[in-house]
Amino acid sequence: MLAIACDHGGYELKLEILKHLEERGIEYIDYGCDSPASVDYPIYARKVTTAIKNGTCENGILICGTGIGISIAANKVPGIRAALCTDCFCAEATRLHNNANVLCMGGRVVGAGLAIKIVDTFLDTPFSNDERHIRRINLIEEE
Ligand code: RB5
Repeated sequence: MLAIACDHGGYELKLEILKHLEERGIEYIDYGCDSPASVDYPIYARKVTTAIKNGTCENGILICGTGIGISIAANKVPGIRAALCTDCFCAEATRLHNNANVLCMGGRVVGAGLAIKIVDTFLDTPFSNDERHIRRINLIEEE
């Protein structure tokens, strides 16, 4: 199960991504927001990170205006590895190397066409399971 949420800056892009997830038959839970009215992105980051931490969802997508604030908020949570991506190279690399469990994007940064390709790359790329990457991820958690 995929958790997805946004603030007002990511609302329009989230709608496009939801449409795409439905076309692909990918099951998701939409944790809001539900309109373009102004909201506080840390609240929506927390909804998705909580769903991952408690096992309701395996991974997540978070969208704000830039993707920056919502990724900073998500990465405060131990065990969450949120990657702000603006291209498919980074989306692939962060799955292979960082085993990222949350994809963050900026609704004011990437267009829907690119965002959907980033989503597909993120969802379709498995973690490499390389020893060196496991070691580095474990070091993050020890800090
Ligand atoms: C909201 O205006 C904007 O600050 C937010 O969406 C995000 O870009 C913060 O990092």
